[in-house]
Amino acid sequence: MLRLNEVHAHYGESHILHGVSMKVEKGSVVALLGRNGMGKTTTIHAIIGFNPPTKGEILFNGTNINGFPPNKISRMGMALVPQGRRIFRSLTVKENLILGFRNNKIKDNHNLERIYELFPVLQERAKQLGRNLSGGEQQMLAIARALMTEPEMILMDEPFEGLAPTIIKDIGLKIEELKNSGLSILLVEQNIHFAAKIADYLYIMNKGEIVYGGTPEQFHSEEDQWKRFIEI
Ligand SMILES: Nc1ncnc2c1ncn2[C@@H]1O[C@H](COP(=O)(O)OP(=O)(O)OP(=O)(O)O)[C@@H](O)[C@H]1O
Ligand SMILES: [Mg+2]
Repeated sequence: MLRLNEVHAHYGESHILHGVSMKVEKGSVVALLGRNGMGKTTTIHAIIGFNPPTKGEILFNGTNINGFPPNKISRMGMALVPQGRRIFRSLTVKENLILGFRNNKIKDNHNLERIYELFPVLQERAKQLGRNLSGGEQQMLAIARALMTEPEMILMDEPFEGLAPTIIKDIGLKIEELKNSGLSILLVEQNIHFAAKIADYLYIMNKGEIVYGGTPEQFHSEEDQWKRFIEI
């Protein structure tokens, strides 16, 4: 589904990603772990086209999308849930959702109905303003909005950041439901314990390089190989 081959990325003169290679198989959840400032968001921005790689390939369903503009990548079936749940605080829940599929192939209210089935709380709060939602509800809205374009693959940048443990569990279950419906997911996360519960495969990034990759079982038995790179 998605494969990065030796991806380099810069912000101006700063060389941030140094040859990142990783893959996400169709219908799987892959986690990208690493401490603050290690290049996780930079990787997401390289994939979605906000800050295209200066070198390397990003293959999405076999097409090298390096250099494609974000709207084209979105139309090809990739969606982003950005870090920090960027919803429109002064718009209602429903307005936030409708904005998510502007400029995309719309099939009347079909998407909206599906999304309300997955997140009933968003239907209950359809007319409320974004700013009046709790942190967990805002995160669900951010995920729901990305789903409005009916993506095949979704990139989620630290969706659990700043949320209480019970909410993290709820959102983790929703992510599992999405995976079971066939969606491929790249999940950026800092907490190895949350990530190992839902991911099929995990990578650790350190200073713009992938320093370890393995299944949750391998992570468990090879702790000495990765524990210096993240908090546990
Ligand atoms: N717009 C930018 N311009 C210049 N440097 C940037 C920019 N955004 C990020 N950086 C730098 O790139 C490096 C990687 O940042 P990035 O945001 O990818 O980290 P991250 O792993 O997502 O961290 P966090 O967990 O805190 O979100 C950092 O050194 C950061 O200071
Ligand atoms: Mg980040």
